[in-house]
Amino acid sequence: MTTEMLDAHKPEDIRRAGELIKKGGLVVIPTETVYGLAANALDEDAVRSIYKAKGRPSDNPLIVHISRLSQLGALVREIPESAVRLAEHFWPGPLTIILPKSALISSVVSGGLDTVAVRLPASETARAIIDAAGCPLAAPSANTSGKPSPSRFSHVWEDLTGRVEAMVDGGHCAVGVESTVVSLTGKVPKLLRPGGVTARQLEEVLGHVELDEAVLQGLSQDVQVASPGMKYKHYSPKANVVIVDASPREYIKYVNAQVDVHALCFEEDVQYLRGPCVTYGSRYDGAAQARQLFDALHALDKCNAKTVYARIPSKNGIGLAVYNRLVRAAGFEIVNPYQHYIIGLTGGSGSGKTTVAKAMEELGCAAIDCDKISRSPNVYDEDCLRELSEYFGSDVVEDGVLNRRLLAQRAFQTTAGKEALNAITHPRILKHVQLAIEKALKSGKRLVVIDAPTLFESGFDAACARIIAVTAPREMRLARIARRDSLTPEQAEKRLGAQQEDSFYTGRADHIVSGEGDYDLEKRLLPIITGLSEKAR
Ligand code: TXA
Ligand code: MG
Repeated sequence: MTTEMLDAHKPEDIRRAGELIKKGGLVVIPTETVYGLAANALDEDAVRSIYKAKGRPSDNPLIVHISRLSQLGALVREIPESAVRLAEHFWPGPLTIILPKSALISSVVSGGLDTVAVRLPASETARAIIDAAGCPLAAPSANTSGKPSPSRFSHVWEDLTGRVEAMVDGGHCAVGVESTVVSLTGKVPKLLRPGGVTARQLEEVLGHVELDEAVLQGLSQDVQVASPGMKYKHYSPKANVVIVDASPREYIKYVNAQVDVHALCFEEDVQYLRGPCVTYGSRYDGAAQARQLFDALHALDKCNAKTVYARIPSKNGIGLAVYNRLVRAAGFEIVNPYQHYIIGLTGGSGSGKTTVAKAMEELGCAAIDCDKISRSPNVYDEDCLRELSEYFGSDVVEDGVLNRRLLAQRAFQTTAGKEALNAITHPRILKHVQLAIEKALKSGKRLVVIDAPTLFESGFDAACARIIAVTAPREMRLARIARRDSLTPEQAEKRLGAQQEDSFYTGRADHIVSGEGDYDLEKRLLPIITGLSEKAR
């Protein structure tokens, strides 16, 4: 079969795509998540040809795509209130909702299940094609079964040419990973596949949402899974992918020590890696990681990579979707080369870091207080004092003793002063933090918590395999720092005003822990700590 190439920007091409689908044909369409392999969802033969073109097992059901909410009613037996709320919040968008199917949906679409997956995509091209076809579209991701999903037109072009009637070029998909799949068929909503709509966003609308166990783990073929797609080999590039669970620095050290491997890493890592690498976004930009992951997997195929060592993504926010795809691409192979975890603990003043660090210590971690180290005499050795007096004036050191008040006065007057102070003291502080970590590891601790208010600013986050952000309401933080440092409300307000927003910390963290009080703290920390100590063994 010859495959027609169509352009998403041409109205006549959209009409052509609609016509071909109406006639029972297969057309690759762009969506905001990944490209889809679409056919008329109400035409059994057309739907069968999807399974054939993809080489997909027939018990793995398809998503039905609609262009208007009013089309949902005919496809399902009932629309629960929770579905209405989800649709209001996230449709059109990267969310698929599973509901009991109506008789209109054939068991070929539902893979023999009594339920149907429905999605109203944000992509205007996708909706225009649905309208042009005049029917709902069954569409799985447009990749041959087992391969990484296509987030660029070139991916489908190389994979499916000659097996479909047409392909519509809509450029690079904005989200880059497939939709979030949530089932509303049980008592509690269940997240079956993480995607562009995050677990937290779902919980804000639905209350508690269960995480299907297949999201994070490999399941054996004979286990009954809620989402059949989860049991199949997935997203696999040709190379053998291994995830390295370590800090950024340790990852680089580990990968540089291997021969004949490719790195699948974050942008920040490239400058330190000696061998070939393919990047998938910035360490702190989950959305960019999602957008680029499948492209990166395709690129590794292109350069014939045999063994790939991948940086572990955070499971926070959209990171959970990235992790879920990558861990499948790796066939669940994760290595822990260093058998310990350095955990960075950070957050604004008065958020409760110290309390959290204490609680972690009680749960068996070693805890290192960077503020305390930054004031310790060890840091201010002879060399350090000399550099300080050279820059800030000889009177900041009197008889070998640092006049902290005078130093602070001079240093904090100007940005240049602050920078100079940091340039002199930071490397020394970091050296002593590093020594404290080594001491803790030598003593047999596997989990070491670094309480560091300026974890990111100092660059020490590169030594941390996990990061916990501690947050508390602003009013509480103001009251705490006023009390602790004997400040007036105005002074406290000014201090907080000079600090980073909460989102600076939470957006970069693996875990967010509330520092509001010690109530429940242990219960919230325990799963994090237990998970890590199991891995560190
Ligand atoms: O973003 C997306 O969802 C893309 C675009 C094209 O819309 N589509 C997509 O389809 O990813 P597919 O077929 O690759 O993945 C659909 C997933 C599979 O894991 C499948 O098992 C699950 O949804 N699924 C479909 N119907 C289901 C049902 N009735 N119950 C449980 N899981 C279902
Ligand atoms: Mg798929």
